[in-house]
Formats: sequence, structure tokens, C-alpha cells
Amino acid sequence: MNPYNFATHYKCINCSKEHPLSNDIYVCPECNGNLDILYNYRMISKKLSKKILEKRKEPSLFRYHELYPVSGDIEKFNKLRIGFTPLYEPGRLKKILGYNNFYIKDDTSNPSASFKDRASIMAIMNASQNGHEMMVAASTGNAASSLACLSASLGMKNIIVVPRSAPRAKISQLVMFGANLVMVKGTYDDAFDLSVAITKKYGLYNRNTGFNPFTREGKKSVSFEIAEQMNWQVPDYVFVPVGDGNIISGVWKGFRDLFEIGLIKTLPGVVAVQSDKSSAVADAFLEERNIEPVKATTIADSISVNRPKDGEAALRSVIDSKGFAIKVSDEEILDYQKKLAQHRGIFAEPSGAASLAGLARALKKKMIDAGKKSVILVTGSGLKDIDAVMKGMKEPVIIRPDITDFDKIKEKIITF
Ligand SMILES: Cc1ncc(COP(=O)(O)O)c(C=O)c1O
Ligand SMILES: [Zn+2]
Repeated sequence: MNPYNFATHYKCINCSKEHPLSNDIYVCPECNGNLDILYNYRMISKKLSKKILEKRKEPSLFRYHELYPVSGDIEKFNKLRIGFTPLYEPGRLKKILGYNNFYIKDDTSNPSASFKDRASIMAIMNASQNGHEMMVAASTGNAASSLACLSASLGMKNIIVVPRSAPRAKISQLVMFGANLVMVKGTYDDAFDLSVAITKKYGLYNRNTGFNPFTREGKKSVSFEIAEQMNWQVPDYVFVPVGDGNIISGVWKGFRDLFEIGLIKTLPGVVAVQSDKSSAVADAFLEERNIEPVKATTIADSISVNRPKDGEAALRSVIDSKGFAIKVSDEEILDYQKKLAQHRGIFAEPSGAASLAGLARALKKKMIDAGKKSVILVTGSGLKDIDAVMKGMKEPVIIRPDITDFDKIKEKIITF
């Protein structure tokens, strides 16, 4: 069996040159551009249909195994439940936004509590199938904690490089999962460059977002799930928080895969949501120019990126899908983070709630009309970054455990 399943070759996103699949290259040898993985869709469409999926019981991203560039013994890797996360109705958020027609894809319920598990599993499978025993990853925190978590479940070794500003909860995940952790005095971009240097020097396998082409292939699984959960009625828009741009290009790839094999008949517009303090992709889209690095300072740490590592693919996804990019302020992100928690019971980290802030702003600016159907991706749990919440929090009232004390302060905390 082909170790790459029905995948056929790489194609450079920048110069379009094709290259054979291998683990010897991560980026285009000609121009350093990021690589896309292409498939034999004709073969896949013979193996995968709506009828086949109706009969499948597998409650994880492995439901769609024909569409991934890895083959072999899936059960060996299926040790924690990744993907097939809930798609929720918005409940009371409908009233808050004045919009009824949207759904929330809640990826906080993945094993390491973020979307990144979808990518890590694909990279681990590829590494493992090619005989690697140690992986390297740089990350703002989530990709690292995800790799550490899944590595722990599968006995893969790792070296993790993160900026020392990474939120403590994410660091605590790394420590608990037994990662070999390196913290750098520098930014995520610095951590990225160091991780690539370690990979090269010691001949290891690198999982970095926007570098390793396999990460996008895991991330696209969310689109398979959304389409199936919506009974193959494709939404008009999917709102995605964007940092490096790998998730959004994965979302677009997933829908295109389904279109190619005939499971869906239309395609959504993908919407890039960025903080106005980290807006390299959105600025390029809005100003119709190439991506230029920025000095990112957003509170939403997972989407705080100076130089988007998969920016080109992200920009093309937005343009090709006829979607759009939208910038929101950090205040809006924190406001909608709270609204998502208080009106829907979903506690997202700031980056994870940016999609809701983006949807709210798009509605206010009349960029989408009420008849259109949207999905927002909630990409990471709020428990991963409690400092972001604590900063804006009023100090709770502390009293003696006594009913008279309670009576004295009750007006401060409740309206009966
Ligand atoms: C919670 C969360 N949301 C969104 C993103 C953005 O994804 P990407 O960097 O692929 O654009 C990340 C990436 O780290 C993330 O962890
Ligand atoms: Zn190239």
C-alpha cells in the first residue's frame, strides 16, 4: 500500500512546481514556498460516499481516512478522540448578534483542548510511518501542547520550542505531558527559526505550522465534519481566527476535497478574522497587496504572529473562496469571548473567540446578510489562558460564611 494513501505529489503554493512526496523536504526546493498535497480524487470517490459515511460509527476525524495522506494501521494511532467535535446551534447568542443563521464548531473539546490536535495527529502518523522517533515543534503554545499530548498517548519523543511569553496553562500542559521543553528569550517567530535549525542539525522530524505540509491535511478534517453535520448543506461563510493562516487554508482545502469527490455541490467563502494588532493577512487582503510582516501585540496569543508562516495559502483561500478578511479590536475579542461564555456556555481562549467577534463585526458592517448561513470556528479553550480573563475581571467579593454577611453584599452580585 502507498504510505501516502491516495495522495500523489506535492505542489508548491508559490511557484506551482510539483515534487514527489517525501519526508526529505518540507518546503519547495526551488523557491522555499509552502507545499500543498495533491490527491487522486477519482480513486477516493470510489471508496468514499455519503452512504458509506452513514454506516460508519467512527466518532473522530478518522471517519474520513481516505482523504488523508497517511495510510496503514489507523487503530495504532487512534488512542485519543480527535475531531468530530460538536456543531452547536447558537442559542441566546442569536439575540445578541441579531442573526439566527449560524452554528458554532466547538474545538475546545479536543484532547489537548485546541484545534491543533487535528494537525498533530497527521504529522505524528507521517513521522512514525517514516521511521522517525523524535519530533520538533515551535509554537505559540497550542501546537506544542497538542504535540506533547498526542506524543504522550503514542510514545513519540519530542523537543518543543516556545517563546517564554507563552501562557502558563499551556506550559503546564507541556510539563504534564512530559515534553522536552525549550523556552526562548524571543518571539514565536524566533522559536520557529530555532526549531528549524534543531531539526536540520539533528535530522529530526518537524511539525511546525506553515512549514510541514501535513498539518493542513489534518486541519481540513473540520470541513468534512461541518459538511456532514449540516447534512451536506454547505454554509455560505466559515469564520476562522487567523495567525499563521494554516487553519483557514485547511478549512478551504477540506471543502474543496469534498467538492472534488462529489459530496458537496457548493463551496463556502472562508473569512479570515484577525486582531487589528496582528493583521498581516487581513491587511494584505484589504489593501490588495502581498503580505508584509507586522509587529504583533494582540492579547490573543495564538493569533499573535509577525510573519504568517502559511500566509500565502491563507490569502489565496480567502480570495479563491470569495470570502473576505476582517479585523477586530482586542476589546471586541474579549467582549465576545465573554458573550460566548455567558450566553452559550463555551469558554474559549481569546483567539478561539475571535471568530465570533469577526462575525459580529461583519453583521454590524452589513458585510453578510441575514439569509446567509455561517459557521464560526472556536479553536481553543479558555482554560488555556486564564490571565487574559483575570486581567479584565472585577475582584470577587469575599465574605465570612454567614447569611448576614451575604445579605449585606447581595445587591452587589445579584439582581433577583
Ligand atoms: C486557538 C487557536 N486559534 C487560532 C489559531 C490560528 O491558526 P493559524 O496559525 O493556522 O492561522 C491558533 C494557532 O495557533 C490557535 O491555537
Ligand atoms: Zn516553489
